[in-house]
Amino acid sequence: MASMPSPVTIPEMLDGLASTRAIRRYTDEPIPDETLRDILFAATRAPSGSNRQPFRFMVFTDSERSARTKAIIAEGARRLWDAKRADDGYDSGSGADVASPKARMARTMQHYVDHFESVPVLVLACLVRYREPSPFEGASVYPACQNLLLGARALGYGGVLTGFQGLVEPELRSFLGIPDEVALSATITLGRPAGSHGPVRRRPMGDLVFGDEWGERADWAIDPEGTSVMPGRFGPA
Ligand SMILES: Cc1cc2nc3c(=O)[nH]c(=O)nc-3n(C[C@H](O)[C@H](O)[C@H](O)COP(=O)(O)O)c2cc1C
Repeated sequence: MASMPSPVTIPEMLDGLASTRAIRRYTDEPIPDETLRDILFAATRAPSGSNRQPFRFMVFTDSERSARTKAIIAEGARRLWDAKRADDGYDSGSGADVASPKARMARTMQHYVDHFESVPVLVLACLVRYREPSPFEGASVYPACQNLLLGARALGYGGVLTGFQGLVEPELRSFLGIPDEVALSATITLGRPAGSHGPVRRRPMGDLVFGDEWGERADWAIDPEGTSVMPGRFGPA
């Protein structure tokens, strides 16, 4: 783990957790193999039910096969975003104002899907099923995906988890020869951020953390001093 900052102190780790934003714009810089190794190592250290470790990651960089895979998923990404843009009304309401957070988000997403073929690294996160699909099975793959994003953050890279493989799954499976018992759980893109990381925008923790009464904030559930909630949109509405 030569390139992993060491030792990682707990405050640094917590700062990293609170500033791992979705990164959708990347420089052209490739991610060196050694760094990819460290990022994927972090992913593979994640917990899973009974420690079965059913997660698998296919990593696409700059081969011809990678280019084709990125192109297939890019097609799915554009179709999904086009539908979401219309369904969630990104161009209406406050979205009509080009300076609004909604319009900014729409521009970011449009740029992301328009340039999807050139993302430096694409990771297909998979789950090898050993029983019938269950709503809980994602709990054995998504912690690994978050470890991957945190590992990238720790090493100066960034990324975002998406469901862009969804609409093109049959073509992807057949091109990559992925067996039927393997679920395609997520598409994650990674690269050197063109912008910067910063505090994530989330609701105050008092809205999200209850004590022993449903809906009742715990007395201690107050955002730590010095952290800002960053007012603004929390969802697509
Ligand atoms: C289950 C899940 C699905 C997501 N799907 C997509 C997606 O399809 N496309 C995308 O660009 N981002 C996707 N994201 C990223 C979220 O939009 C992002 O985490 C959220 O807006 C918070 O952004 P922030 O971490 O930068 O604050 C997804 C995230 C999760 C956890």
